[in-house]
Amino acid sequence: MPRRTVLDVPPPVRLRRGPTSSNQARTLARAWTGARRTEAAKTAAGLPIRWTAITGTPGSGKSQVGRLLARHWEVVEVAELADRLGCTDGRSGGLREVDMDRLARRMARLRAVRGAPVRLRTALLIGHLAHLLPVRDVVVLRCHPRELRRRLRHRGAVSGALRANLASEAIGVILFEAAKNRQRGRLWEVDTTGRSPSSVARLVDRLLRTRPASRFGHVDWLSDPRVTEQLLRDPA
Ligand SMILES: Nc1ncnc2c1ncn2[C@@H]1O[C@H](COP(=O)(O)OP(=O)(O)OP(=O)(O)O)[C@@H](O)[C@H]1O
Ligand SMILES: [Mg+2]
Repeated sequence: MPRRTVLDVPPPVRLRRGPTSSNQARTLARAWTGARRTEAAKTAAGLPIRWTAITGTPGSGKSQVGRLLARHWEVVEVAELADRLGCTDGRSGGLREVDMDRLARRMARLRAVRGAPVRLRTALLIGHLAHLLPVRDVVVLRCHPRELRRRLRHRGAVSGALRANLASEAIGVILFEAAKNRQRGRLWEVDTTGRSPSSVARLVDRLLRTRPASRFGHVDWLSDPRVTEQLLRDPA
């Protein structure tokens, strides 16, 4: 897997302080064991963490949803996990290099610690590269390019990146990658257009809890002529 550069967004997820070095980083579940004892009827010591990727084009609302889901799930951003596990190569010009191969290897070695409830073996990995890592299930957040444009502009996206992200969402690059990289897990595509963050979070929460059959391929922005029009017209 080639090295990839990720946009360096400040970690928006309220993380419980977790392990900081790769040696200590045996689990993300460690932080839960005190707080959630009531759920700890069963333990999963030594079992691998089950990762679910929450991915999507920048601006699709991954971090926002991650913040809401952090009330009930263990949540970590790819960049934060890479930092914790010593898989970043520093920063330059606001960008952070993540060594995806090393991160994938180290993720595969993470194990639940003694006392971790079985359900909490599931951790959510947030980021637009998350689906390229060794995850079980994948949630791809989609957003109509017109709404995505508003969200990204509001966030002050620079023009080149804005255009690239809108084009990428229009043709469904992340969904395509996620489908191509899918192993045995499930893949769900969620249209966030016109939905509030809490409504999206509820929907994703239900998917995580019930794990219905995969459902994707129903979002098609290109059949909306306004989308191609916008892409051709929009200099930014
Ligand atoms: N469902 C939603 N409805 C309206 N606005 C939203 C929604 N979800 C997120 N936003 C807004 O869109 C912007 C981008 O959201 P967010 O940072 O969560 O995206 P992201 O997918 O994490 O992007 P990145 O990949 O760049 O980290 C934020 O300003 C956020 O408040
Ligand atoms: Mg984000």
